[in-house]
Amino acid sequence: MINIKKKLNSYIDEKNQIVCITCYDASFSKILDDLSIDIVLVGDSLGMVIKGETNTHNVTIEDILYHTSCVAKNKNNFILMADLPINSYKDPEIAYTNSKKLLDKKADIVKIEYKDNHAEIVKTLISKNIPVCAHIGLLPQYASSIQDIRIYGKDRDERDKLLQQAHSLEKLGANMILLECVNSELSKDITNSVKIPVIGIGSGEFCNGQVQVLYDLIGVSNNPPKFSKDFLKENGSIKKALKDFYNYVKSIKH
Ligand code: KIV
Repeated sequence: MINIKKKLNSYIDEKNQIVCITCYDASFSKILDDLSIDIVLVGDSLGMVIKGETNTHNVTIEDILYHTSCVAKNKNNFILMADLPINSYKDPEIAYTNSKKLLDKKADIVKIEYKDNHAEIVKTLISKNIPVCAHIGLLPQYASSIQDIRIYGKDRDERDKLLQQAHSLEKLGANMILLECVNSELSKDITNSVKIPVIGIGSGEFCNGQVQVLYDLIGVSNNPPKFSKDFLKENGSIKKALKDFYNYVKSIKH
């Protein structure tokens, strides 16, 4: 059993950028494991890329459990992170029951889209030895219109709120923070002001690592976000494309 807290903090100590890619099946999980990807995320982005829906709102805990067990089949080295989909953490007890099910499928850490009213949930999970990554900034589970799909933290109020959330999460014992679509200056300030790792997507290069949706990296998403890059275009194979992304993230210096 790996000590997640120690392992995650070692990336900061060693100034080793964290590479995180989503995955939903055993074949890609083998490729990501062979490429030494640090963290593999069974994300609720599967609502779009696997189930063909327009958002993550109908993803169930059963979906995530199924795909986590597929990905776990070829897990040797990576940290396996699994999403708690919407409705799977309505209260601390439900969140714990579902997180425990994910850990039983070999997840090492669960990810929760965090709002201030989720503090008790994070506290409970940590107190029951469930490692937690808290996702802040753009929260796709709660996005109700196109206006919600934007960069967060540009104005002072939003900036203060996100900084304060990051600090509260560190105090609550969260093991990692994920920033989605957060203004890059603010990402830098958050990363520099907490001692737990911060990984980002669409949030600039000043984090402790980067996370991307697998299908965006290999150009098979129908509707990729503006910030994503198709690494397959310049590389002849999926493995080379993913290795190129890995090398890019590992080479980021700040
Ligand atoms: O579900 C997912 O794939 C995610 C990433 C976009 C970070 O949460």
